[in-house]
Amino acid sequence: MAAQRIYSEVQDYYGKEVKKTKDLKTNSCLTTARPLPRFVREALQCVHEEVSAKYYGCGLVIPECLENCWILDLGSGSGRDCYMLSKLVGENGHVTGIDMTEAQVEVAKKYLDYHMNKFDYQNPNVNFILGYIEDLGAAGLKDGSYDLVISNCVVNLSPNKRAVLREAYRVLKTGGEMYFSDVYASHDLPEEIRKHRILWGECLGGALWWEDLYKIAQDVGFWPVQLVTASRITISNKELESIVGDCQFVSATFRLFKISLDDSAQRCEVIYNGGIIGHEKELEFDVNYKFKQGEVVEVDEETAAILQNSRFATKFLINPIRQKLPITEGCSHEKDKIRDPFKLVEQMEARVSAQSVSQCCGSKGCC
Ligand SMILES: C[S@@+](CC[C@H](N)C(=O)[O-])C[C@H]1O[C@@H](n2cnc3c(N)ncnc32)[C@H](O)[C@@H]1O
Repeated sequence: MAAQRIYSEVQDYYGKEVKKTKDLKTNSCLTTARPLPRFVREALQCVHEEVSAKYYGCGLVIPECLENCWILDLGSGSGRDCYMLSKLVGENGHVTGIDMTEAQVEVAKKYLDYHMNKFDYQNPNVNFILGYIEDLGAAGLKDGSYDLVISNCVVNLSPNKRAVLREAYRVLKTGGEMYFSDVYASHDLPEEIRKHRILWGECLGGALWWEDLYKIAQDVGFWPVQLVTASRITISNKELESIVGDCQFVSATFRLFKISLDDSAQRCEVIYNGGIIGHEKELEFDVNYKFKQGEVVEVDEETAAILQNSRFATKFLINPIRQKLPITEGCSHEKDKIRDPFKLVEQMEARVSAQSVSQCCGSKGCC
């Protein structure tokens, strides 16, 4: 589909056709893979009900260490994530939401005072811009101005995903991070699916083959992609299922860092100091690394460079590996590193089914 046609169909979809979360025709925008931590639930409870009713995200875009951060939300919709993050960054942080659909931006702006009063902020720390995520420059967003770029179920809707990632990279500060949830396909989607108006609007038709995300991210300059979580999308609509056929979809969250390349990147032993809000004792950084406070974990070059050159640097003791220390559970090796969100989902499903068999065949031996 030509870009202009995609823009106007998506604007119609989210501006007119879909009014509330329940109007969606599939459940692609309703998946969350992890239970919500308490501080997130509390922040969400502060969000106005009209804003929440128009939430169409497919994941939880709340990375750690948010205090005082400057955040940009690509495709902010009615602003649910922006307002939740406005509370989490605090009054000295800032959140900008950008979206191309006027009706969505209007709802978001309508509740600015409501939220600033609720959080007791003297000066608003949120603003919303009507604009395209492929051209953040046209919206006045400058190079190296954000600590974090987030996005929730939006990049799939863009006719030019490469431009979106290129712009995200440009506006991030060095050491900054793009942390985003989106829908991915198990392979390159055929035209019949990509040209289907409803499938595109429902965030399925435009989904990237997950391997393409890795290629595009690397091309625009990001450090290797880290997979945070994934969950399977079940369409639950017979007509659309028949068009989709064997194609599978997941909602997945990835973290992409902007790090200046350093030849000296090397394996390290790291110790998490603890104390990050909501993750005081344990930090699940991605699917491959979990850090317990005070425990030595051996990390690969990729992860070591991220921890050393991002906002996480002050949260860890980091030492290049000279002598071997005992390896703890939090460690993962390159050959075992999980990068494929479909593989992750299969592993999680296998674990759940093994658990239910072992519970079923436990002490009472019902099988
Ligand atoms: C599925 S909704 C998600 C909205 C929001 N992130 C949320 O979680 O509720 C997709 C949003 O992305 C916006 N969008 C899609 N493509 C866009 C683009 N190229 N530029 C700006 N906004 C876009 C739509 O207008 C819509 O509000």
